[in-house]
Amino acid sequence: MSNFNSRGFPYHRGRRLRSSSNLRDVVSQVKLSLDDLVMPYFIKEIKDSSEVKNMPGILRYDENEILFQLEKLIEKGIKAVALFPKISEENKTPEGIEALNENNLICRTLRNIKKKIPEILVFCDIALDPYTSTGHDGIVNRKGEIDNDITIDTLSKMSVLLANNGCDVVSPSDMMDGRIKVIRSELEKSKNINTCIMSYSAKFASGFYSPFRDALGNLKNLGKTDKKTYQIDFRNQNEAIKESLEDIYEGADIIMVKPAIYYLDIVNILREKCLIPIAAYQVSGEYSMIKIAAEKNMINLKDTVLESLIGIKRSGADIIFSYFAEEVSEWLK
Ligand code: PBG
Repeated sequence: MSNFNSRGFPYHRGRRLRSSSNLRDVVSQVKLSLDDLVMPYFIKEIKDSSEVKNMPGILRYDENEILFQLEKLIEKGIKAVALFPKISEENKTPEGIEALNENNLICRTLRNIKKKIPEILVFCDIALDPYTSTGHDGIVNRKGEIDNDITIDTLSKMSVLLANNGCDVVSPSDMMDGRIKVIRSELEKSKNINTCIMSYSAKFASGFYSPFRDALGNLKNLGKTDKKTYQIDFRNQNEAIKESLEDIYEGADIIMVKPAIYYLDIVNILREKCLIPIAAYQVSGEYSMIKIAAEKNMINLKDTVLESLIGIKRSGADIIFSYFAEEVSEWLK
């Protein structure tokens, strides 16, 4: 490309290749497939409400309702889901011990799913934020810090528990240091040798997670605190690359960049530097921005969603987590 020498107009007419729809399809470089998509779901206790206020079109499902939902999803051609439990406030504690209860919401849901629909690929978030009364992904120690080493002990136990209950891909999203190494070793010890680890390796301290935090009931628990001592500063590119390479070295099978749209430079660099699959997460705030603008008829939903997802794929992502996945499956038929 660098020694490209143009003979100029009219030998070059860029518009020639754009002149018909069939021609545009034939020459198109990036094709979005349902195989690329993972649909995230919020799981709730039976008595809790299903409404997710800040994400129009998204609902929480209880451990039974999710089965119908997943059967529909599979018929539409989507093969993978990510599950996020919203537990009752009274079960949240400073240490988030409910995460290790084998009869907690996520374990019950996993067992239901794997009994009825064993083939569906299930990603489970590994972080303590659904379980801590502080809303943090880790355990806050006496000094008021998110304690790295105590937290990864719980996270590795949580990973084994979820793997034992049928989770296919444990997905640490907590940004503690060294957790991939410990989780990998505990999965081996517990004979979960085929459980994959997808590390949220390049996870930025982003303002776009707010609708998600609200969906889990964490926004008010976090109060004025933030996650900047563990999630990456969005001014830093090298740090995100280094974190990802370290996680690959520690044993991650898949890495993730999150959020997606504002971080495609990171996806692109990682694509050049590593050989394992890369996922990108179009997060809750990215979803709601498009969805709400489309509801107000400011933009066209289908056009802009496909543009956003193809942009993410073009940057080098192999897997895309998107709350639009189910809707997209109708369009790609
Ligand atoms: C929790 C977690 C978050 C998301 C996925 N896992 C929120 C956070 O880190 O505060 C965000 C997903 C979204 O916004 O859609 N560890």
